[in-house]
Amino acid sequence: MARIIPIAHDTEKAEAISAATEVLLRHLPVAIPTETVYGLAADATHPTAITSIYETKGRPRFNPLICHMADLAMAERYAVFDPISRKLAEAFWPGPLTLVLPLKENSGIHPLATAGLDTVGIRVPVGFTAELIRSLGRPLAAPSANSSGRISPTTAQHVDADLGQKIEVIVDGGPCPVGVESTIVKVEDGEIRLLRPGGIAVEAIESVTGKPVVRPKASGTAAIEAPGMLASHYAPNAAVRLKATEVSAGEALIAFGPDDISGAAAAHALFNLSPTADLTEAASNLFDYLKRADASGATGIAVMQIPDEGLGEAINDRLMRAAAPRGTEG
Ligand code: TXA
Ligand code: MG
Repeated sequence: MARIIPIAHDTEKAEAISAATEVLLRHLPVAIPTETVYGLAADATHPTAITSIYETKGRPRFNPLICHMADLAMAERYAVFDPISRKLAEAFWPGPLTLVLPLKENSGIHPLATAGLDTVGIRVPVGFTAELIRSLGRPLAAPSANSSGRISPTTAQHVDADLGQKIEVIVDGGPCPVGVESTIVKVEDGEIRLLRPGGIAVEAIESVTGKPVVRPKASGTAAIEAPGMLASHYAPNAAVRLKATEVSAGEALIAFGPDDISGAAAAHALFNLSPTADLTEAASNLFDYLKRADASGATGIAVMQIPDEGLGEAINDRLMRAAAPRGTEG
């Protein structure tokens, strides 16, 4: 059973760093809080460590992992930065932006972490995890800390319920403030390509760089660019119905904004992502409310329409995956 270690006070934090470091040095994974979602982290330079992530999650191994760094200087030891990527790193790190960059030769990042690609997805997370990386002195590969195909965890309790029997340590940093995974971009020939919408809005990237962000042309393109982007992901057990304009008896409703829809009062359970229609608040509540709606015993989950701008793009991406036919990614 996992030991759950809080980090509210400095003494707890020091204890969490030393306990997590000790497990990582044995090439086993630990669950860590980040600003986006909880990660299942292990030493990105060690094959046994990376294999233990795939095994714990039951995740397909052709899927490259994001490597987390303590800061930009550390990232530059492993990857080659073009000027636009460096500008993005300076603007958004630490924070929910992942850059796909060419790997340096003999970088030390193990090919199992990158699925043998000559590029690596890198981000610098906020807070505790950056301190842990500094303590270990090595990058941490970390996908979301959930079984493959399940909804990503945004609290230590979510992690414990899913993986608590399989891992030794869960560091409890409280609810993740952003609530959806990082935005992934790749700069190629001076063009910024969006591989996954996430916690940094595309508009913010465009405003920092003065360049348009190029979205994948059709659904399916992203699956090739970012190999983890298979259609079904974030799958609850109950069927998910999008852009609902009414609720049927027995369904749970995930609402957005101040307005009611027909049947809302009789919904099996009701969760409002943001009564004031704030997309940032909605993103932070998304995975928790999906899990709760799923656990409510509802026959299905109806979700109201969410605007497709700002963080709404990431929310709609995750909802489409939750509603898609079931696959095996995670
Ligand atoms: O917010 C996040 O990014 C969370 C937290 C824990 O940091 N991490 C996360 O990692 O979502 P993961 O491993 O689940 O997401 C990896 C995604 C996959 O879709 C993968 O295909 C893509 O990043 N990716 C990683 N390396 C890549 C590369 N070299 N080229 C293209 N896509 C890459
Ligand atoms: Mg995931």
